This record gives sequence, structure tokens and C-alpha cells, in this order.
Amino acid sequence: MESDSHTECLQLSNGVRMPVLGIGTSHVGGYSDEAMVHALKHCGVRHIDTARRYRSEHLVGESVRKSGVNRADLFITSKVWPSQYGYQETKDAFHDSLRQVGVEYFDLYLLHWAASPEGTDTKQLISESWKALEEFYSQGLCKAIGVSNFEISDLKNLEESRKIVPQVNQLEIHIFSYPEKLIEYCRGLGMQVVAYSPMAKGEGLTHPKVMELAKKYKRPSSQILNRWVTQHGIATIPKSTKPHRVEENCKIFDFALSAEDMGYLDAIHESDSHSVIHITSQAVFNHT
Ligand SMILES: NC(=O)c1ccc[n+]([C@@H]2O[C@H](COP(=O)([O-])OP(=O)(O)OC[C@H]3O[C@@H](n4cnc5c(N)ncnc54)[C@H](OP(=O)(O)O)[C@@H]3O)[C@@H](O)[C@H]2O)c1
Repeated sequence: MESDSHTECLQLSNGVRMPVLGIGTSHVGGYSDEAMVHALKHCGVRHIDTARRYRSEHLVGESVRKSGVNRADLFITSKVWPSQYGYQETKDAFHDSLRQVGVEYFDLYLLHWAASPEGTDTKQLISESWKALEEFYSQGLCKAIGVSNFEISDLKNLEESRKIVPQVNQLEIHIFSYPEKLIEYCRGLGMQVVAYSPMAKGEGLTHPKVMELAKKYKRPSSQILNRWVTQHGIATIPKSTKPHRVEENCKIFDFALSAEDMGYLDAIHESDSHSVIHITSQAVFNHT
């Protein structure tokens, strides 16, 4: 991990630098312009995670313009939802997303899930969408391309048709979910990993072990959880609609968890592994 004036960065396989700390904007809980502007203006956040499905892209664009931060200093990720997989559909979705955010390019563009509508050929549709992403990349319309929620088998399927190895896999990672084999597989391909729902949607904040370490380090639980993610060499994109919590979530670069305490938290997912993402495969492609 490297440091720069704003925050630490992870280097992608093509040399692009991705800030290890970002901010989420998913539709759950709503979007807060106040929190986003505060993050950009006062907390030094430079990495924003949005997606077509969150319907937050136009709001992100407005907050960015309001913050006065230069586009070139930001790392903006968006994603295409499975209902728009297929070569032309993905092209249309991508250009619409660019328009919504009001930018000329994305820093990172992802296939959101390895799924497709019932009765369609998922592998074929994903391969067509990936071809579109490879074109955006070669045209400079995105600085990096990747996937989200892709398992090892999905990455292997993609391998058969892809020319470019995905540079990122964005996955559900928190104290109750740490897919070690998948993370190692991604790293073996030179991919960086981004953790979504790093606080387990808030569920991790009150875990007794987390609260115990919060007391020991004199840090809020949120910082213990996000620090644990980044100390695993993984980027984190916590979301809050409240400016004071956004600020709290950002203060993770001036302390470190001991190896023993990292292991203490690792033991949680080893005994209690569960997802906090309540999404069925049907819901994956029914939403736009
Ligand atoms: N690729 C995917 O499929 C996928 C799936 C899910 C999420 N994501 C991305 O990951 C981002 C983050 O994940 P997430 O929003 O699911 O969950 P999260 O960041 O783990 O947790 C968000 C929840 O924690 C609360 N919270 C945040 N900071 C807090 C603090 N310091 N103290 C107490 N509570 C706090 C928030 O409430 P308040 O707003 O009230 O503070 C909210 O309820 C999303 O916004 C999205 O961009 C991607």
C-alpha cells in the first residue's frame, strides 16, 4: 500500500492508484448530499462507489460539483446491473451512467453480479458485457474495469472469452464474511479486492469483540471494523448518511491493530460466517 497527500492507495495491475478508503452510496438508507459533500470537502475522501442500481449517480454528480473537488482528483466507480447485460445494453447503460454522473470517464466500471435473467445464457451475456467493458477501457472511457460478487467459478467462466483480466473484484467483506479462497484467487490473477458493507450494514458495530477492541484502542467500533479491512490489504467503502459518522469512518490511518487483535477479529468469521446482503438471485436481475 502506498500513501499520498489524501489517503493510502492500492495499485491496480495497470498502475492505476485506487484510494483504499472510499464512500458508499447505495440506495439502502437513502442518499445524503450533506454527507457526501462533507466527505469530499472536509474529510479528504476521494473514492466514491456508486452504481446504476442505486439510482444515486446523478446525486453523486451534484455533490461532486458542489464540493468543488477536481474531477481528476477523484476515483469514481460505477456498475452495470445484470438486467442490462449484453453488448449493446451494457454500452447504453455505461453511457447513460456517464451522463448521470456528468463525467467524461469512470475510474472503475464493474459488472455488478454474475447473474442474468432466467432462461438466458449467463456466461454468454457476461462475456458480451465484458467485451463492451474492454472497449470502454481501450477507448480511455474508464481507467480500470472489474467485477463484483464474482465467485471463482464465475472468474473461470470469464477467463474463456476475456482479453483483459478484471482489475478489481468488489465483494461482501466484514467480520462475518471473509471469503479467503476467493480473495487469494483474485490476488493470484493480480486483482485488487474492495470490501462492500465493511461494517456488515451496522451489524458488526456491536459485536462484543469489536466493542472490546474499541475500548482497548479508544476508537469507535466503526474505525476498528474499517481498519481491520484495510489491514488485510483490501479497500473499504463504508456508507453513512450522517456527516459526523462519515468523518469518524475516515479516521483509520493513524493507528494499527496488532497482529494478535487482527487474529482475534478473524476468528469471528471462522466461527460465525454469514452474509448481511439479503438479495435473492431473482431480485438480482429484476431490478434495473
Ligand atoms: N457490489 C455490491 O453488490 C454492493 C452491495 C452492497 C453495498 N455495496 C456498496 O458498499 C457500500 C457500503 O455498504 P453498506 O451501505 O451496505 O453497509 P455498511 O457501510 O457496512 O453500513 C452502513 C450502515 O452503517 C451505519 N453507519 C455508518 N457509519 C456508522 C458509524 N460510524 N457509526 C454507526 N453506524 C454507522 C449506516 O447508517 P447511517 O446512514 O444512519 O449512518 C448504515 O446503516 C454501499 O453504500 C455500496 O456503495 C456494494
